[in-house]
Amino acid sequence: MTCLSGGLSRPLRSWAALLSTVLLGTQAVRAIDLNLDDPDSIEAAAKAVATEMVSYYTGMNPGDVPGNLPDPYYWWEAGAMFGALIDYWFYTGDDTWNNITMQAMLWQAGPDGTFMPTNQSRTEGNDDQAFWGMAAMSAAERNFPNPPEDQPQWLAMAQAVFNSQANRWDQSSCGGGLRWQIFTWNNGYNYKNTISNGCFFNIAARLAKYTNNHTYAEWAERAWHWTVDVGFMTEDYRFWDGADDTKNCTEFNKIEWTYNSAVYLLGAANMYNYTNGDPTWRDRVERILNASDVFFADNPKDVMYERACETVNTCMVDQRSFKAYMARWMAATTQMAPFTYDRIMPKLRASALAAAKTCTGGNKGTSCGLKWTEEKWDGSKGVGEQMSAMEVFQSNLITRVAPPVTNSTGGTSKGDPSAGVGGTGASPLPSAYTDPITAGDRAGAGILTTLMLVVFIGCAGWLMYE
Ligand SMILES: *[C@@H]1O[C@H](CO)[C@@H](O)[C@H](O)[C@H]1NC(C)=O
Ligand SMILES: *[C@@H]1O[C@H](CO)[C@@H](O)[C@H](O)[C@H]1NC(C)=O
Ligand SMILES: *[C@@H]1O[C@H](CO)[C@@H](O)[C@H](O)[C@H]1NC(C)=O
Ligand SMILES: *[C@@H]1O[C@H](CO)[C@@H](O)[C@H](O)[C@H]1NC(C)=O
Ligand SMILES: *[C@@H]1O[C@H](CO)[C@@H](O)[C@H](O)[C@H]1NC(C)=O
Ligand SMILES: *[C@@H]1O[C@H](CO)[C@@H](O)[C@H](O)[C@H]1NC(C)=O
Ligand SMILES: *[C@@H]1O[C@H](CO)[C@@H](O)[C@H](O)[C@H]1NC(C)=O
Repeated sequence: MTCLSGGLSRPLRSWAALLSTVLLGTQAVRAIDLNLDDPDSIEAAAKAVATEMVSYYTGMNPGDVPGNLPDPYYWWEAGAMFGALIDYWFYTGDDTWNNITMQAMLWQAGPDGTFMPTNQSRTEGNDDQAFWGMAAMSAAERNFPNPPEDQPQWLAMAQAVFNSQANRWDQSSCGGGLRWQIFTWNNGYNYKNTISNGCFFNIAARLAKYTNNHTYAEWAERAWHWTVDVGFMTEDYRFWDGADDTKNCTEFNKIEWTYNSAVYLLGAANMYNYTNGDPTWRDRVERILNASDVFFADNPKDVMYERACETVNTCMVDQRSFKAYMARWMAATTQMAPFTYDRIMPKLRASALAAAKTCTGGNKGTSCGLKWTEEKWDGSKGVGEQMSAMEVFQSNLITRVAPPVTNSTGGTSKGDPSAGVGGTGASPLPSAYTDPITAGDRAGAGILTTLMLVVFIGCAGWLMYE
């Protein structure tokens, strides 16, 4: 995930995507009919785009693996998608996809609830693990139906992810922080990035709010201060992507993504709420929110866009889903920090209306485009496009749903403060992955490193566009 990881395997697929676009492009029909003053209309729109999103998923079929999306979608995006479906159920009351969500979450969480399946050892980063962990956190906060008692529970899963990551906090470079990758053999192990640390901050802050256990709040403070000190957050509250730890995080990849701002925004909003309105946290929430104005267009006004890639047509598969998380976490922020409501809602409204106009693609006329600012289908489609449209639609139901529950306000999920403690939280490697690294693997890694460098420079290049 992130600009770096998103760049490795995608170019080959774009021709296939282009071809399907050309073939299907002629069949565009009507846009999703969205009336934001009518909750039934919002629910219907969310269901239409969700139906198409879930149509990509085959993990519930016999013989398939629950929780995996097919190529080209990485494992983490499935975790993000189930998080979106947990929200969907909460916002709409429609439980159509609850069963596949439960099945996927439990399968991938594993017996210890850490979301460290051995099958993912070749790619799993802290951010990837955290997207599943945040889905579990949402399930606890929204009182999603609990798993059977003999299985790991939602809150315990979030705690397991938190504990395994707290164990990985790394003082050996850059003054602390989490690395992007968990395992030494993966490319990106030497990269410390904002999204990994932002997800950890977000989970810690939400655990503090849910459990009222101050240890989580202390970790959230630590993650926040490190992000500031290392320079991943700028003085004007904008977020860069990350830095190479072999250079002690002195040279930054300065690309800016929506989800980095948003993951810190909701974490800060939870800290604001946990501290009963601490003015320091209030100020941080407000400044992150103000700075995130850069992700909203002037024309059409207030419409969200992924400025680092949409304007230059370079959004990779992962990046096509990032606006989903910005919408999700902005809406959640209005509940934890109600003073943000008047600034956030006009943006979620304008973005939802523009997004709806793009959902005319595909043979059902429910494929949504990537660029909402175009207000018509731009020929792009996929899980990320559907998830983003779905989240921005349903986020407009935020005033109709209750704020997150906590352990003392009706939350029913059972926790386990010591879940995931022990070692790195890593499952043992399957035998297929324990072979000694061969010369061929090394050469492959070298090529990947070179590719990453190209992508890295490419990403940094977008800054010039500013
Ligand atoms: C979900 O699974 C339960 C138990 O297996 C079943 O009773 C129920 O009908 C399923 N619901 C849906 C919507 O498929
Ligand atoms: C791991 O991969 C195997 C083989 O494809 C599959 O049977 C199993 O369900 C997978 N486990 C998880 C947790 O994805
Ligand atoms: C690396 O950076 C940290 C803080 O960012 C600093 O405390 C430490 O002294 C630096 N180490 C070296 C070797 O420069
Ligand atoms: C914390 O969140 C609750 C639930 O939304 C809200 O009622 C309360 O006003 C928030 N606290 C502050 C200080 O804004
Ligand atoms: C955030 O933006 C609003 C509206 O422009 C402004 O009134 C407010 O002072 C800003 N807050 C901070 C902390 O700069
Ligand atoms: C959560 O609430 C239950 C009862 O409502 C209580 O027994 C338990 O101790 C609480 N857990 C924590 C961590 O506060
Ligand atoms: C609070 O969280 C910490 C960190 O996970 C844990 O060690 C401690 O047992 C928790 N305390 C309670 C009362 O649950």
